[in-house]
This record gives sequence, structure tokens and C-alpha cells, in this order.
Amino acid sequence: MTKILQGHHLTKRFRGLVALHDVSFELNRGEILGLIGPNGAGKSTLVSLISGTLTPTSGALTFEGRSLLKITTHHRAHLGIGRTFQVMKPFPGLSVLDNVCVGALFGRDGGEHRLEAAREAAHACLEFVGLGHRVHQRAEALGGPDRKRLELAKALAMKPKLLLCDEVMAGLNHVEIEEVIEVIRKVRDQGISILVIEHVMKAIQSLSDRLLVLHHGEKIADGPPREVLADPRVVEAYLGRRRS
Ligand SMILES: Nc1ncnc2c1ncn2[C@@H]1O[C@H](COP(=O)(O)OP(=O)(O)OP(=O)(O)O)[C@@H](O)[C@H]1O
Ligand SMILES: [Mg+2]
Repeated sequence: MTKILQGHHLTKRFRGLVALHDVSFELNRGEILGLIGPNGAGKSTLVSLISGTLTPTSGALTFEGRSLLKITTHHRAHLGIGRTFQVMKPFPGLSVLDNVCVGALFGRDGGEHRLEAAREAAHACLEFVGLGHRVHQRAEALGGPDRKRLELAKALAMKPKLLLCDEVMAGLNHVEIEEVIEVIRKVRDQGISILVIEHVMKAIQSLSDRLLVLHHGEKIADGPPREVLADPRVVEAYLGRRRS
């Protein structure tokens, strides 16, 4: 199995606070890797190191065998790394469609060059995530669950090879969670590798090929979901005080 992404001994400090400490991991091509851990464990920080919105204090990251460390965020998007944000900030004043167009215009290999092509791609992504009926609305008019779908559509419009999903199911009801799980499975069926952060245990368990667990910034487990979730350290660190 080929590795699409590898992290080696990653550490991230925010002044005195160590958000990640010596974390090594890998993601295989075509795999869904679930990233779990209690609040403040360092999950979003790890996604930000991969997408380039944060730089590691030390350690290395490689994407398709090439070091990411000197590569800017927008260049990482060109290489095929797309992400969603846990704290959603749609572009205000733009329609749902135009929000997703931004992803299409700045995505893999530089994105679509023609606005019309970007609009078509954005439309297809919005249909794909179930927002086809809201394309002409202002993005800020969307409620929480639809904003999550918008995040996903924006990232998918970038045509990523690697999709990083940061809590795209938070705040959704059971039916909506099932819908998003289906969407993520279909994304994987297109050959896209996925790292998914989620607190909804049932969802992460059914989706992930492998789980990586962080606790206080350290990796405490990595392996098949069944084994990892039975690991006493994981039970103590995470499941003992899960949110859902
Ligand atoms: N930009 C920042 N500046 C300072 N501290 C930060 C910053 N970003 C994150 N932190 C801190 O780093 C730690 C890890 O945060 P992170 O957001 O990665 O956790 P998380 O696992 O995503 O948590 P959650 O499940 O609540 O989203 C926390 O203690 C957080 O307060
Ligand atoms: Mg987070």
C-alpha cells in the first residue's frame, strides 16, 4: 500500500503550550483515517499543520513523498490537499454557489481557469453534498447543518487527492450524520484519501479503516478501529468522557 501522507515526530508549541508532541503517523492512499481524541487533544492543530495554516515547531511532513514544510498553503491546495474548517466562515455576501466556486478556482493544479467551468464544478459539488436546492442563497443564510455541507462542497470543489475533514458532522442529527457518512464514502470511492476528525463515535467507527488517537498532544494509539477502541488507554482518555 502506498503512503500519500507521512508525519514524522511532529511537535507544535504555542508559546508555553505543547499542542502536539512528537506525533508520527501515516495515511495510505485511498484510506479513511479517523482522528479522535478529547477536546484540546491537538486534532485540529494536526490538520492545520498538514494544510499549512500552521507550521510545526519541529518534525517533518511529506505528501506523495515530497516535503511539505517549505510549501505554502495555496501551493498545497494546488498539490491536492483540501480541508474543511471546524469553525466555519463562509465568504460573507457571496452566494452558496460562489462560495464553492472559490474552491474550484483555487484547487488542484491551480484550479479551473474559466469562471463558467468553476460554476459547473461548484454546482456538481453542491448537488453531491445535498445542497443543490440552495445554490442561489446567501451563504450566511444557511443553518448549521447546511454550513457543514457547504464546507465539504468547498473542499471537494478543489478536487483534492487528500481531504481533511474537521468535525463535519458536529451538530447534525442522526439522519444528517448518515447522509454525510454516505457522502464521505462516495468521496473515497472516487479514490480520494481522507483524514476525518469526529467526536461521533458510531460515525467514526463505521467510516474509518484505521484510527489515530491523540491525548494531550501525544499519540496514544493507532490501528484498526476495533482494537483501538478496546485499548484501555483510549477508553480512559476518551471514551470515558465522550461528548456523544
Ligand atoms: N492558535 C493557537 N494559539 C494558542 N493555543 C492554541 C491555538 N490553537 C490551538 N491551541 C491550543 O492547542 C491545544 C490543541 O487544540 P486543538 O484545537 O488542536 O484541539 P482539538 O483536538 O481540535 O480539540 P476539539 O475537539 O475541541 O476541537 C488546545 O489546548 C488549544 O487551546
Ligand atoms: Mg478541533
